[in-house]
Amino acid sequence: MLNKKTVDDIQVKGKRVLVRCDFNVPMKDGVITDENRIVAALPTIKKLIADGGKVILCSHLGKPKNGPEEKFSLAPVAKRLSELLGQEVVFADDDNVVGEKAKAAVAAMKDGDVVLLQNTRFRKEETKNGEEFSKELASLCDIYVNDAFGAAHRAHCSTVGVTQFVDTAVVGYLMEKEINFLGNAVNNPVRPFVAILGGSKVSDKINVINNLLNKVDTLIIGGGMAYTFMKAQGYEIGKSLLEEDKIDYAKEMMAKAEEKGVKLLLPVDNMVSKEFNNDAPFRVCEGNLEPDEMALDIGPKTQKMYAEALADAKTVVWNGPMGVFEMSNFAKGTIAIAQALADLKDATTIIGGGDSAAAVNQLGFGDKMTHISTGGGASLEFLEGKDLPGVVAVNDK
Ligand code: 3PG
Repeated sequence: MLNKKTVDDIQVKGKRVLVRCDFNVPMKDGVITDENRIVAALPTIKKLIADGGKVILCSHLGKPKNGPEEKFSLAPVAKRLSELLGQEVVFADDDNVVGEKAKAAVAAMKDGDVVLLQNTRFRKEETKNGEEFSKELASLCDIYVNDAFGAAHRAHCSTVGVTQFVDTAVVGYLMEKEINFLGNAVNNPVRPFVAILGGSKVSDKINVINNLLNKVDTLIIGGGMAYTFMKAQGYEIGKSLLEEDKIDYAKEMMAKAEEKGVKLLLPVDNMVSKEFNNDAPFRVCEGNLEPDEMALDIGPKTQKMYAEALADAKTVVWNGPMGVFEMSNFAKGTIAIAQALADLKDATTIIGGGDSAAAVNQLGFGDKMTHISTGGGASLEFLEGKDLPGVVAVNDK
């Protein structure tokens, strides 16, 4: 279990509480297209309001390279939060983040009020974990809460630096929930424990594969990264995604699996096409591909084999789609895995953030999973066995 102080360990009545959230939500033309991260932050915010804290929220949004830019403003988040909370969220639209507007907004707060600061990345020191901006953030508050699991792998001013200048730094409910779900699954799993890894690149998952092979009973591999493994098995993979420099690594991991007694499952058939196009002709292909073909999804035999391998699982962690799920003809592998997880009884099913969460939600299986992480990079780093700086930095229990 997480050995860090949480919002349940503090008294916030009348105190200024700075809460780092991950409101890095996708937006199109100023409209939020997926509000899961905002909704996931509500329990902590509501608790602090109910306990009479002065709740000052902050977050990054996107990767602004040149300072303040309208398209990276958190204004739409303030608006949506006001609706979700049923009370005004004052937006401190301060390009300097902790400038005169922010200070005035905080000074005017009454117990239970909520203020949202402007995008922390409008200050270029943020991502460098600079001391000055960390101090400025700390000067706004009496207590700091980190509830931004999605940004916990970043050592930035608002996630790490600020903790050096406050006496009390704790985690929020979302952070606690994420770490407990992922931590229990990886370090204390009810067995059989099956991990499913997909997505396009082996290089993104190198340390995850290596770490999980020490933990799981079965490791299922799909998605673009599977084809570097198939190449390592000696198959012709045509124009499929290949990371030539990772073939030896794939061989090493296959040997490691054997040595550890872990079942490592790779596709035995694939959906292949000559074009990366949903409207192009495609076929099921067992074994070698033609030189002009590329694999875009796992095939029906593989789907069945993977579903069977999952049938008695008690703990499942899934990160990365099995194919190009955005194209309907190549979504069946990802759907089959989602269905196999949805059919499990008495199992804990955990979905990594980013693409996997998007796939599961988009395909309509979201409410069938035990936990869908709000962290893409953060959940991957956790699965690699790394300490997350944003968690390390807060007070121990
Ligand atoms: C994410 O979307 O994974 C987090 O919000 C972190 O964002 P970043 O990769 O821009 O640091």
